[in-house]
Amino acid sequence: MKGLILSGGRGTRLRPLTYSLPKQLVSVANKPIIHYVVENLLEAGIEEMGVIISPETGQQVRKSLLDAGFQRARFTFILQEKPLGLAHAVKTAKDFLGNENFVMYLGDNLIGSGIKDFVEEFKRTAPAALILLKEVEDPRLFGVAELGEGGKIVRLVEKPESPPSNLALVGVYIFSPQVHLAVERIRPSWRGELEITDAIQELINMGLEVRAHILQRWWLDTGKKDDMLEANRVVLDEIRKTRISGEVDENSTINGRVVVEEGARIIGSKIRGPAIIGKRTVVENSFIGPYTSIGEGCLIKNSCVEYSVILPETEVIDIERMEESLVGRRAIIKKGSGVNRALKVMIGDDSSLEI
Ligand code: G1P
Repeated sequence: MKGLILSGGRGTRLRPLTYSLPKQLVSVANKPIIHYVVENLLEAGIEEMGVIISPETGQQVRKSLLDAGFQRARFTFILQEKPLGLAHAVKTAKDFLGNENFVMYLGDNLIGSGIKDFVEEFKRTAPAALILLKEVEDPRLFGVAELGEGGKIVRLVEKPESPPSNLALVGVYIFSPQVHLAVERIRPSWRGELEITDAIQELINMGLEVRAHILQRWWLDTGKKDDMLEANRVVLDEIRKTRISGEVDENSTINGRVVVEEGARIIGSKIRGPAIIGKRTVVENSFIGPYTSIGEGCLIKNSCVEYSVILPETEVIDIERMEESLVGRRAIIKKGSGVNRALKVMIGDDSSLEI
């Protein structure tokens, strides 16, 4: 069985971060999301992976995956010129996929249980496709499944205005090569994309078996800031024990489960986990609160940061309280000096600032 990781798309809901960083490379607990995807595939015994990349961000994705040093994973990078849909990605990868079964995994999806059990279920039952479903609050944002008797899928619809259920399609799908036939038969949707949801519906129309499995553990689609912070919370919560590889001076305290990476220095500060402090980062005279990930090479000084994700090489200085924030790389957040403490900013397109 092969893997097909999708890493195209424009990441519009995470702008401005995604102008320079593909959303699949945004870190959760200091690890790019797409790396969790590769780990899940490897854990399920899948080593041959095709990665769909876009012309804009392909090189960054490629570098990140090759530099990560995954043992056993073999990557083939496949360029999708335009984001014409998930089923179009399958079409683009047809030569790579050949006549094999494959797991298609959206590079911005995280699932708590991994995928090993589903791959085994697929191998045991050999359907045309196996899809994962999860109950969500607002199904209008996803593909949605209507189930009939005995949990059989009756119908699938992409982003319906009036959803037939609250069961969303998770971005992990297992297919037999029969899906290629279905992909050939569908037409672009209202949003101009070849939808994988329509291709799966087509498999059902062709009288083939599509199995559904309802996920019990968490699933996060990291499309927006709040989802990203929630993903960070959930993943940090899985840290089992404190690991201090950097330096913590005698005036600092560490409470709860905290990871301090090599070369990081904690000086006169308090860190309350779950939290992770990246390599070479300096935290000085500050408080880092629960559910915070500070990337590599950052400086946090005279500040309080809580429930946030700070990407590498960013500085936060003299900020009384920062929370629920997602900050990109190489940013500088600093309290103004002078009498009137005016706000002085350089803010790019699509930024959001709450004072
Ligand atoms: C895609 C699929 C949708 C699925 C979702 C899961 O949506 O089209 O059916 O529920 O991924 O993340 P998109 O990310 O294109 O909005």
